[in-house]
Amino acid sequence: MAKVGIVVGSIRNNSFSQQIADNVAPLFPDGFETEFIEIANLPLYNQDYDENSPAEYTTFRDKVKSVDAVLFVTPEHNRSVPAALKNALDVASRPWGQNVWDGKPAAVISQSISGLSGFGANHHLRQTLAFLNMPIVQQPEVYLANSQDLVDGSGKITNEGTIEFLQGFVNTFVDLIKKFN
Ligand SMILES: Cc1cc2nc3c(=O)[nH]c(=O)nc-3n(C[C@H](O)[C@H](O)[C@H](O)COP(=O)(O)O)c2cc1C
Repeated sequence: MAKVGIVVGSIRNNSFSQQIADNVAPLFPDGFETEFIEIANLPLYNQDYDENSPAEYTTFRDKVKSVDAVLFVTPEHNRSVPAALKNALDVASRPWGQNVWDGKPAAVISQSISGLSGFGANHHLRQTLAFLNMPIVQQPEVYLANSQDLVDGSGKITNEGTIEFLQGFVNTFVDLIKKFN
């Protein structure tokens, strides 16, 4: 059984990223378990904490360590990743030499309420994941536009073409995970 951690880049209530992630999680096949990894409670990363880390850091690092792969679903803030997500990436990358993201296959979904689809966030995230040594699904890239129209009132993606596209993306991610586990 492979375990896929899902990190949502938005910490706001009723986030579109969370709603989209909720739709993607069930697309993983038998033999794959998904688990959401919370980032909202992490104190702002400070290198001084490397000596004596807050309990939230330890819990978060242990959670990341325990999964075989990570799916990121994120909005874009000012053409980049939201600060909360960058903070989480930094927390689990340190102390130096103890980067727990290391070697874990990753995949990225970005979304936006505009037509821009979080392109900037998607690629800034890819830049960081490359440095953290995470093999990433290159194609298909997933940029979801107009999120407010993508999910219905109950948070469900009803467009069959979008679900089909997301299923293909998950299948590609699963193949990548199998290569590394
Ligand atoms: C501080 C801030 C900056 C934003 N900057 C961008 C941006 O650069 N590009 C964009 O497409 N949307 C931007 N947005 C809009 C959000 O990305 C958009 O509303 C997104 O769908 C929210 O995702 P969420 O519901 O998961 O939080 C910004 C929103 C906030 C709060």
